[in-house]
Amino acid sequence: MAITTCIFDAYGTLFDVTAAARQASAEPEFEALRDKWPELAAHWRLKQLQYTWLRAVANAHADFWDVTQDGLDWSLEATGLQGDDRLRQRLLDLYWELQAYPEVPEMLAALKAGGLQTAILSNGSPPMLDGAVQSAGIEELLDDVLSVEAVGVFKPHSRVYDLVQKRFGCDRDEVLFVSSNGWDAAGASGYGFITAWVNRANEPMDRLPWTPAHVLPNLSTIPALAGL
Ligand code: LAC
Repeated sequence: MAITTCIFDAYGTLFDVTAAARQASAEPEFEALRDKWPELAAHWRLKQLQYTWLRAVANAHADFWDVTQDGLDWSLEATGLQGDDRLRQRLLDLYWELQAYPEVPEMLAALKAGGLQTAILSNGSPPMLDGAVQSAGIEELLDDVLSVEAVGVFKPHSRVYDLVQKRFGCDRDEVLFVSSNGWDAAGASGYGFITAWVNRANEPMDRLPWTPAHVLPNLSTIPALAGL
């Protein structure tokens, strides 16, 4: 069936999650981050995700903003940067205005010009996603921004992927689901979406029961993949 709807993960897919630590590390006040930012950013992302999976299986949902702060606190301690409240606050502030990857606006514009429906489906809370979408200036290029807060559980729970059909009324095989998270692309494949894993870092494929239909180095070929 032809693809009618393109759904995007947010953090790491449209928005560069390493940008907060990288940007703070370039500010004179946060000299301590100069060498440590890649390690801090990697810890922060992994802990944030681990907490989402653990909370999902333990039926202990919390807002993604809380989970993001918990992941940061663990990571600041692991890198010896705990106790610097100004650094902590700066990193959290920057998370609300993450940069979009450079190809994002043109890619979304091409999908809209081609008549496709576009949306974000993310673990992020609605206010966080609103902040990122506004600061990236892409609100006009999205039909909707869907948050897991509508169902109170994190990805890759099937209730989250159900939100797409509820909103757009489309069949699963009309949906191109795009994520830079291998486990999210795999989970969405298992659910029945056509999936593209954006593997910017050239990571190995996750060993899970499902595999993404497509593996891409960035988002620029999404319109062609969607049949445009
Ligand atoms: C999201 C995380 C998984 O945006 O990147 O849902």
